[in-house]
Amino acid sequence: MIRPTESSSSPKAPTSDFATAGARPDFAPNYDLPRHRWYRFKEGFSAGLVSAFVAEYLPSRNGRLLDPFLGSGTTAVEGARLGHSVVGIETNPFMAFMANVKTRDYTRADSLEHAALQCLRQRSRSAAFILPRDSTLVERKGLEKWLLNRTVATRFEQLRTAIAEITPPTVRDLLLLALLSSIEEVANARKDGKCWRYKNNWCSLNFNAKSLDEAFTGQVLRYAEDIVACPRLSGRATVFRGDARVKLGRIGPADQLYDGVLTSPPYLNSFDYTDIYRPELLLLNFARNSTELRRIRFATLRSHMQVAWKPSPPLDIPLLQRKIDAINSAELWCGRIPEMINAYFVDLDQIVEQCARRLKVGATAGFVVADSAYCGVVIPVDLILSVIFERRGFVTKKITLFRWTLGNGHHQQRSIERLKEVMVIAEYKPSGRQLYSSRTTMYMQGKELRGGVSC
Ligand SMILES: C[S@@+](CC[C@H](N)C(=O)[O-])C[C@H]1O[C@@H](n2cnc3c(N)ncnc32)[C@H](O)[C@@H]1O
Repeated sequence: MIRPTESSSSPKAPTSDFATAGARPDFAPNYDLPRHRWYRFKEGFSAGLVSAFVAEYLPSRNGRLLDPFLGSGTTAVEGARLGHSVVGIETNPFMAFMANVKTRDYTRADSLEHAALQCLRQRSRSAAFILPRDSTLVERKGLEKWLLNRTVATRFEQLRTAIAEITPPTVRDLLLLALLSSIEEVANARKDGKCWRYKNNWCSLNFNAKSLDEAFTGQVLRYAEDIVACPRLSGRATVFRGDARVKLGRIGPADQLYDGVLTSPPYLNSFDYTDIYRPELLLLNFARNSTELRRIRFATLRSHMQVAWKPSPPLDIPLLQRKIDAINSAELWCGRIPEMINAYFVDLDQIVEQCARRLKVGATAGFVVADSAYCGVVIPVDLILSVIFERRGFVTKKITLFRWTLGNGHHQQRSIERLKEVMVIAEYKPSGRQLYSSRTTMYMQGKELRGGVSC
């Protein structure tokens, strides 16, 4: 069990013991929870973390909570389950789809098992299974390794074709998610943090159409069980698909303010979600080729180097610049790493600034982040984020330590020091001038946007 303690490097004296043993930063406890268990999303945080935050920082009911990096929708599912109104933004179309499906009202979805049975009887498909030639997604001549055996892929396509015909759309989407969530069970590799790792003796596992049918049936039964237990969440969840750096200024009326923001931006570990969730994006046609994948990548926080970002001018935070200088002077080739680190904090600064415009005075922001290390230099993401908070009108209340980890990103170098995974908690307490300037900008944006907000 992880025993959270307070970080010794907090810039402010920690004042309370927010983190309980149930408030974990990892997804594992969610595998037993209705709706949360619909997809194994390793990078998500626990439902317990959301409920602990909500209990401490939101009104007892009808609070308004924001999550600009929604991922699989943990904040939305749990916040709405507890009776609050949650708005989430997610750039990856597959994750946005998943969060949407997990938060819908299923009072009229009692036909799920019947619809699944109908699909399982389907033995034809509408079109040839077309995937990018360079992909290792599906078995074909010339490949040494592949994720899905040909028979599994063909059966996937048959089921997907049948599911596309199902009405109502809520049941169709549930079945699509159930189908997609079955894939890992019958794939030759398993997601392992930053990459897909081939299963032991994957060649002799011989997954086939029947394996997929069984995995899919198991998922449908679990989904159906959860829907019966909890057909609808008592609060409201709204999922916007888009880049939070842009979208935060455009969600709902400018004068609609939030009681809190709880989020976990991608860590500064060169981990590229577009890459790890590439099979899902391709299998459901959220992206059809590398150009479309690239477009999705460009709309992500600059926490990796999978695309050539336009560099940003240095962010004026002495601690950050000292760390970047140290990396630059390390006797190692660090390529574009310093640029990425600067860009990451420029993006975080933009997100914090946008959140400030959306929050009530006195509201709390909780950001789950982790340190990273490059070229032997540790980047204390929590401390730099605290400086950003302070500059944007927040007061950092505490930094809660969840656990120590070893760096594991592609370009991240294992450091001798362990890296912290923490939650930075800050209260929005702007000075009069800061408040005036942020609300004026918001009002101007609101005027520009009058006439509709797109999802
Ligand atoms: C650490 S995960 C969040 C996990 C989430 N807390 C959960 O429990 O599922 C970070 C998410 O941010 C998303 N993301 C990255 N850049 C983004 C951006 N610019 N705007 C919105 N979402 C973004 C990623 O696709 C990823 O799903």
